[in-house]
Amino acid sequence: MLEKIIILDFGSQYTQLIARRVRELNVYCEIHPFNNIPEITSNVKGIILSGSPYSVRQDDAPQVDLNTFDNYPMLAVCYGAQYIAQQSGGEVQASSTREYGRANLNYVSNSNKLFKNIALDSQVWMSHGDTITQVPENFELIASTESVKVAAYQVKDTDTYAIQFHPEVTHSTDGKQLLENFLVDICGCKQEWTPDAFVETTIAALQSQLGEDKVVLALSGGVDSSVAAILLHKAIGKNLHCIFVDNGLLRKDEYEGVLEQYKHLGLNIKGVDAKERFLSQLAGLTDPELKRKAIGRVFIEVFDDEAHQVQDVKWLAQGTIYPDIIESVSVKGPSATIKSHHNVGGLPDFMKLKVVEPLNTLFKDEVRRVGRSLGLEHFIIGRHPFPGPGLAIRILGEVTAEKVAILQEADAIYINNLKEAGLYDKVWQAGAIFLPVQSVGVMGDERTYENAIALRAVESVDGMTADWCHLPYNVLAKISNEIINKVKGINRVVYDISSKPPATIEWE
Ligand code: XMP
Repeated sequence: MLEKIIILDFGSQYTQLIARRVRELNVYCEIHPFNNIPEITSNVKGIILSGSPYSVRQDDAPQVDLNTFDNYPMLAVCYGAQYIAQQSGGEVQASSTREYGRANLNYVSNSNKLFKNIALDSQVWMSHGDTITQVPENFELIASTESVKVAAYQVKDTDTYAIQFHPEVTHSTDGKQLLENFLVDICGCKQEWTPDAFVETTIAALQSQLGEDKVVLALSGGVDSSVAAILLHKAIGKNLHCIFVDNGLLRKDEYEGVLEQYKHLGLNIKGVDAKERFLSQLAGLTDPELKRKAIGRVFIEVFDDEAHQVQDVKWLAQGTIYPDIIESVSVKGPSATIKSHHNVGGLPDFMKLKVVEPLNTLFKDEVRRVGRSLGLEHFIIGRHPFPGPGLAIRILGEVTAEKVAILQEADAIYINNLKEAGLYDKVWQAGAIFLPVQSVGVMGDERTYENAIALRAVESVDGMTADWCHLPYNVLAKISNEIINKVKGINRVVYDISSKPPATIEWE
């Protein structure tokens, strides 16, 4: 059975980062909320306790029964470290100043397994308001910084270790080494979780799960649905029926290009031209959420029509990834919905299909690595994210066929120039936005009164936060010239220099 590490989440902003670091070390891990602990099966090799925005001194601080993990190696980070210390009779007090940022180890027990190959003076990242001021006698101090004496401890004669700093953050320069020491030397993990191993085990699992059943999958052209499709294709071949819908809101030539690419990969795929259906339902709508809802509704109708043409289909496959399903620890109540990001999710309710989600244990970067291991071309793996409602949410206000055509041209010029300048792969997401704002211009001897295009390019890790890219002026100048000269209906180009938050990536 696949060996795994359980990460118990106390609500820290860094919990997912811990998981990603563990997986980068080729060890499979799962995040579970502290108040919903899974059964600890024999393939669990160790437990990591996360940090938390809570203080252990608060009455409503998260609690776990540490006895549940008796005899399992444990690494407790930040809040986790304070929690074990406090539960075992130590003392945790509010620091006089909240310690946030870099510190250096001025004591390291090199004979300790956790600190193997970690030098004195190693930089660590601190982020805590409380400090462990006293530990019980059976705790051995194994690292300190100048201001935090108990920077790390081991409960003597056990495999329980705790650290006040965050090894998952890159500012902790030996954080990776420390995690590897824990995983390999303390938990005995074999580091066999690789993209190739994932592909092999997933294909076998899909084959036994699906047998001879037929499966439908909506391809979007994006990385997740493409990787899901190839995995399923390798597992069940022609029993996978892919549907690629042209909603009329894709990038220029995207529908034909992507369809061709998929056919080339051997997928059993049907392209559906539903441009008119989408556009007619968008007529007169100006509110972004109403536009999203209309597109979602039409998509379900179109997909349902097509899926029903596949005789005896039993399964709906989706490219859901791990961050979509991690049960989050709600610290300040459920976050308000800013945009309803509905993708294909929620489709099957009325279709009565069983759902198969081959990527639901993977982070985005892992999906890309699996895609590479499957031989998917850069053309698909390296694509920028593109929203389900497509250009409809990049045309402010009402969407018309004419505006879509204008935006497609401008966007194609923008993206091609980024590619030519070698910038496309450095940008996380880029796109043009149609602004229905008329302004005066002059072309030749004529006065123009046309619309504007905004260009957006952002750097991000997961789309949750983003910063605008500092694209070179000469590239921006070339793009602006080309758009204004070639795209009829546009006489002004602006560059969006807003970060998220407070702005969002898309304009609607
Ligand atoms: P925002 O605009 O919320 O975008 O900063 C964050 C990421 O989500 C994408 N996005 C969407 N994706 N349906 C989608 O499938 C949507 O309605 C939607 N709205 C935004 C956006 O492109 C960015 O990658």
